[in-house]
Amino acid sequence: MTEKSQILVTGGAGYIGSHSVLALCEAGYEPIVVDNLDNSSHESIKRVESIVGRSIKFYKLDIRDHQKLKDVFINHSFASVVHFCGLKAVGESVVYPLKYYENNLAGTITLLKLMEDFQVRKMIFSSSATVYGDPDEVPVKEDSKRFATNPYGRTKLMIEDICFDLANTKKRDNWQIALLRYFNPIGAHESGLIGENPKGIPNNLMPFILKVASGELDQLKVFGGDYPTNDGTGRRDYIHVMDLAEGHVAAIAWLENELLQGSICQAFNLGTGNSVSVLELLHEFFLSIGVKVNYEIVDRRQGDIAECYADPSFANQILNWKTKRGLKEMIEDGWKWQTLNPYGYS
Ligand code: NAD
Ligand code: WQD
Repeated sequence: MTEKSQILVTGGAGYIGSHSVLALCEAGYEPIVVDNLDNSSHESIKRVESIVGRSIKFYKLDIRDHQKLKDVFINHSFASVVHFCGLKAVGESVVYPLKYYENNLAGTITLLKLMEDFQVRKMIFSSSATVYGDPDEVPVKEDSKRFATNPYGRTKLMIEDICFDLANTKKRDNWQIALLRYFNPIGAHESGLIGENPKGIPNNLMPFILKVASGELDQLKVFGGDYPTNDGTGRRDYIHVMDLAEGHVAAIAWLENELLQGSICQAFNLGTGNSVSVLELLHEFFLSIGVKVNYEIVDRRQGDIAECYADPSFANQILNWKTKRGLKEMIEDGWKWQTLNPYGYS
């Protein structure tokens, strides 16, 4: 690793971004954060500063604003880019597909063009297990069939394809890209100072559970009790957000390794390799925290699948990375964040 290489982190004030900015600081990098704060708050970065004990350069801007983003490239000399920013609510993407294509695709293209202009050719992209759609077989491997079931997922597929095209260009100008396919990140940094801060009613399971357990919401609706799984509820590969954050540090090290030669665009599954059902998660929540979450089993949510979990062995081997934290830590750290920050960052 070059001492204190500057890394551009787009969307760094968000949930996964802020935890990754922390992990990058701890690994000796200098993250430079850009974010339009559309779904986050600058407070997350201030809290990371208080944990790592140093200041972090932050630019409030929309990455679709070519001139403002160009000024950031002019001001810094980036070794690589970690590209988190994007809209991520599946249901909203079905209602407002153009908003998703505009933000996620136009933003990424603006970024990639500037990277080309400034000769910054190493990037980590936040992809998602959503690119596996409803998999024929689990665990999914990086070469499993890709399929999108909604506009959000299609933006991830399209951006992956843009990255594959860049690495295959006849110009062979050495794009080196890691597509990190995240499974279901939950939990928070062990300090309880940073965590997931959804606006309004959460869409995802864990933030919803935390708000029912704390009394802010009345009841969890468990979407579907008739899936072909052990207890009828959906099974997912939940991963501690700090394990995920450390996966980005490992991917940067892979990109910076001088043995990595020529153009490459490589996907990696970042998951634990285990799946947990909704009812199992609720049971583990009770065992860890001692709170019984009030729930009711209702109809399936449209677009949901029975089961998805990773085969992370390729990432384990090539990135020399492995998850370290179990379900209990994911729950305890998420609960600590919730109890210390019942109103999030506000
Ligand atoms: P998040 O919403 O907390 O973070 C995304 C950040 O990007 C936010 O801070 C938002 O303000 C910013 N942003 C969005 N559009 C922008 C733009 N045009 N210009 C500047 N900033 C912009 O989401 P997250 O959970 O941290 O997810 C990070 C990335 O990982 C996203 O790309 C998401 O699609 C992907 N991902 C998330 C999950 C998950 O379950 N959280 C799973 C798989 C993949
Ligand atoms: C998990 C399980 C639900 C809420 C989504 C996106 C995916 C990725 C991660 C970005 C499922 C059940 C949920 C609730 C419930 N994001 N559930 N009641 O659907 O696996 O993935 O986030 O890329 O693209 O689709 O995560 O947390 O929403 O659901 O019963 O109120 O919890 O049915 O079985 P999901 P989730």
